[in-house]
Amino acid sequence: MHRLIQPLTVIATLLVALPFNGLCAQHSIIPRPAEMSQQDGEFEVTAETRILAAPGLESKGRQLADWLESVTGLKLQVVSDSDSAENTISLKLDPALAHLGEEGYSLTVRPGGVVIRASKPAGVFYGLQSLRQLLPHEGIGRTVRCVTIKDAPRFSWRGFMLDEARYFKGMDVVKSLLDEMALLKMNVFHWHLTDDQGWRIEIKKYPKLTEIGSRRKDSQVGGWNSDKFAGVPHEGFYTQEEVKEIVAYAEQLHIQIVPEIEMPGHASAAIASYPELGTQREPIEVPTRFGKHYPCYNAADENVYRILNEILDEVVGLFPSEVIHIGGDEVRFDHWKQSKDIAELMKREGLKTSADVQIYFTNRISRDIEKKGRRMMGWNEILGDDLHGFLKDGQTRSAATLSPSAIVHFWKGNPELAERAIREGHDVVNSWDAYTYLDYGYQSVSVQRSYSFDPVFKGLAPEYYEKVKGFGCQMWGEWIPTKVDMETRVYPRIAACAEVGWTPLDRKDYVGFVQRLENLTKRWDRLGIHYDRKSWPYTSKELEQIPVAGTWEPTQIQEKAVDLRWDVSKQIDGPGIYDVVLVYNRGAHGIDLHEVALLQDGETIALDAHEGFAGGQNRNIIYRLKVDACLPDAVYSLRAKVSGSGGTRSWGSVHLRRFR
Ligand code: ACM
Repeated sequence: MHRLIQPLTVIATLLVALPFNGLCAQHSIIPRPAEMSQQDGEFEVTAETRILAAPGLESKGRQLADWLESVTGLKLQVVSDSDSAENTISLKLDPALAHLGEEGYSLTVRPGGVVIRASKPAGVFYGLQSLRQLLPHEGIGRTVRCVTIKDAPRFSWRGFMLDEARYFKGMDVVKSLLDEMALLKMNVFHWHLTDDQGWRIEIKKYPKLTEIGSRRKDSQVGGWNSDKFAGVPHEGFYTQEEVKEIVAYAEQLHIQIVPEIEMPGHASAAIASYPELGTQREPIEVPTRFGKHYPCYNAADENVYRILNEILDEVVGLFPSEVIHIGGDEVRFDHWKQSKDIAELMKREGLKTSADVQIYFTNRISRDIEKKGRRMMGWNEILGDDLHGFLKDGQTRSAATLSPSAIVHFWKGNPELAERAIREGHDVVNSWDAYTYLDYGYQSVSVQRSYSFDPVFKGLAPEYYEKVKGFGCQMWGEWIPTKVDMETRVYPRIAACAEVGWTPLDRKDYVGFVQRLENLTKRWDRLGIHYDRKSWPYTSKELEQIPVAGTWEPTQIQEKAVDLRWDVSKQIDGPGIYDVVLVYNRGAHGIDLHEVALLQDGETIALDAHEGFAGGQNRNIIYRLKVDACLPDAVYSLRAKVSGSGGTRSWGSVHLRRFR
């Protein structure tokens, strides 16, 4: 049930053309804070402004001074004490704010100065990120409108994954991503460092992992079924010194790096380096084709467990993260099924299926990781469900169960699998591919779709909410050889994802987000970060211009779902992609939106069936309709299935225009 709504909504404000430009500059924090109110007056950063950092926060003070210098040229003094709070940016630890959690903070801007308080340094750090975004153009402007913010994240796990196993990107790219993550208050960098096509981290005890495993002769290009190759070798890896540098860099940004060392599948690069790790024990090359390969670690061989343990010892020594990710996805069981060793293991341990063998393997690794004082995480195949039909004989897990301490990283399959995992005691991070895979094209995972994601599984009993630790978005690397390819997929969707992870559900507002994005793009322009400008439909100015195609009023609305219809024959002027925006204008109730269709002479020819809400907090109010062909004399009408939210007193307008 939605709360009663405020008469002036963001979109109504937009469409009646209030002066939102000034508003934009001051209200552009992404992710949107939990509570924020604006007051009259402003604070100006000048050469005399001092940063007053309380004991324990000196490094935060210096970070702020460095950021401000890089964008304004002003070299501000950082002091630990001051007779006067006038013209200061003051950073304080305040145990009274413990209720906001370790990452929550309060920020007040008054004409005389700025105060950021939090119970822990992480909270102060996030207050600083909000302040950076409040300065117009992220610091190039020097005045901040007076404001009061109280803020804390919705989830403790706000992740971004980079796959460098497929293409090595290097330190500068990683540091730039960490910078952007920090500004967006994301706190987990999940680093996919090993896979079939490359091993990217130096392991001193097993040097061939990088001597052999970090190099491949060529790379498939053009998609999964393509027979084309780039015609050039690819290589690259991080030395342990470089890993340490990146870990330290991330630590300063309050980002934990969770390394992913894939096992038992996606292991060809390791098996090419040390064939004794596999069941076939034959030399192989690091694959040049992408996709899922057959080699996997021999789960029956104690020597393999010893080697993996020694590798993990070095990994644990490099990464302070509580969590170590072991992948576990997409294991092709063919080699195990052909292996005498595995058959003997199954007999000895009473394992009935290959899924059981994977669970046996994963439980052993999980115990080893626990002995090292850490916790294991893996993709949801570690639960033993046959997501890909690789078991072939319809088997799935039998008696074997995964240790409840394992964190399940949900990415594919029926969300009920994740719910079952939660009921079985697992913590879950939700990275459902249909919303969070940033390597997917914008046609399938639009900015709006990313934004609409709710990591809490629909229908999950409230007592289990706290088992959903958060969400991750993923940048898989098969088809993104360059930094430009990668950035144009990451940006702007990572910003939408950041808001998914931080902002309370009832504060999310896609149209407002699109407005706020404009400030961020100015930063990206300044830094030369590539983003796909066509991927989100409108700038705020453009939104104002969308023609009205019809209206609704209370007599048409019911609390049950009804169809509203408008004749749009004049507006449909050829094939293309049309956007329909449903805008609440006034009244005590918003409307829940279920689907929007375009009808040609009464027949549906285009449909967008996502859920949305037009009201005080708009959600997903833009519907996109693809029209393949038009008839010159046909009658076109729009049909919107809607229901009044808690009542029927709602007035609004429907806007339509051709997007492309
Ligand atoms: C995955 O996308 N294979 C986790």
